[in-house]
Amino acid sequence: MTETMDQNYSIWAKRLRENQGIRSLMEDLGQATGHPDEILLGGGNPAHIPEAEQIFQEAFSSLAKDPMLRSLLGDYQAPIGNDSFRSLAADYLSPFFQTNLKKENIAFFNGSQNAYSYLLNLHSGPMADGSFKKILLPIVPEYIGYADQSIADHTFIASPPNVVTTGKNRFRYELNQTTFDLKDVGVLALSRPTNPTGNVLSLSDLEWMEEQTKHRKIPLLIDLAYGNPFPNLIGEEAPVPYKEGRTLSLSFSKIGLPGVRFGIIISDSDTIQTLSSFAAVGNLAVGNLGVYLMALLFQKNILPSLAKNILRPFYESKLKLAIERFTTEFQKMGVDYEIHDPMGGFFLWIRFPSLSISNHELYQLCKENRLFIVSGHYFFPGLNRDFSHTKECIRLTYCREEEELARGAQILAKIVASHQTKSE
Ligand SMILES: Cc1ncc(COP(=O)(O)O)c(C=O)c1O
Repeated sequence: MTETMDQNYSIWAKRLRENQGIRSLMEDLGQATGHPDEILLGGGNPAHIPEAEQIFQEAFSSLAKDPMLRSLLGDYQAPIGNDSFRSLAADYLSPFFQTNLKKENIAFFNGSQNAYSYLLNLHSGPMADGSFKKILLPIVPEYIGYADQSIADHTFIASPPNVVTTGKNRFRYELNQTTFDLKDVGVLALSRPTNPTGNVLSLSDLEWMEEQTKHRKIPLLIDLAYGNPFPNLIGEEAPVPYKEGRTLSLSFSKIGLPGVRFGIIISDSDTIQTLSSFAAVGNLAVGNLGVYLMALLFQKNILPSLAKNILRPFYESKLKLAIERFTTEFQKMGVDYEIHDPMGGFFLWIRFPSLSISNHELYQLCKENRLFIVSGHYFFPGLNRDFSHTKECIRLTYCREEEELARGAQILAKIVASHQTKSE
């Protein structure tokens, strides 16, 4: 079997088959049976918010009635989008990013995940000059979806962050400047807000990193899937502006449209052109649905008010509720726990310092009880130093119904309470 596998599959394929957190997570999402006892706190689905769904339905109806539907369904787009749509996006997005974007700075993809698979390989692995470049994740834990996107092996590097206690049962990861090392690094990647922790790195941290990278012209990829300008779940932190040296990614998924598979990249014209080559080979073209929908939403200027009046209040109230439910159950059951400051996004990152089993085993036990969470061990690609958090943390989404969160909290608290080395 192994021999056949070695013969038929590339090294990359073999690695993907052996170890893939994102696949397990997405399969859990897709394989939910709809059983009434199922508690789906695992994946990154946005919530179904009726007011937002109403807006999207109206947009879809108007696209369906428009004569351009023929073209939407019947014509290919250019690989990263037709010029007219790219110009429209450049004009619309410029004020949000405090700059003057041109169409040459814009590329569309079938989801931002799709764009990242190109971006990470474009800047890392065996390079055209003969060197081998790596992807530095300045703070881990970091988004599970980056791991394994690089075709070359051993491309990720990371070191443990500073762990700062911010209150009772609360902590935050901060950038560890002393271990920040750019040796052999081709690119930096981070999500803001960070998936899984809900961290929102300060602009001064970004600028500090750019002070180090700019002499070597190392690009900084900033993933704004949950960030500005939509859904803008960044709490009180400032929005990220566009600057030379940065590649920004936006997504329609977390505003409530993950099924549309649409993402936007903002970068320098050279990177955008290179991405166009990747897109032509990998996709032929970006899908039309997202592009046409974007045009409509941008022309009507719908997304800023959607983010401000619907999405932010909704996710903020869900967060409050989830914190209340989980802390109540943890305290009731004597669970030793710490929650990362949830500054943005839609996840809670919880550490169980006294857990006597691994977080992966905890995930399995939860799954046996129809509770789906994500084991934290997946979120540390490239980290090759001991860091206890890799085995003690889990991620869960709070984008679910109150009753589901409450049942999830009860089950999780009970399982953790019976697998602790010591109780409080
Ligand atoms: C931080 C982050 N980036 C990117 C993505 C990919 O999103 P999409 O491909 O749906 O745009 C996700 C999805 O969960 C995410 O959490």
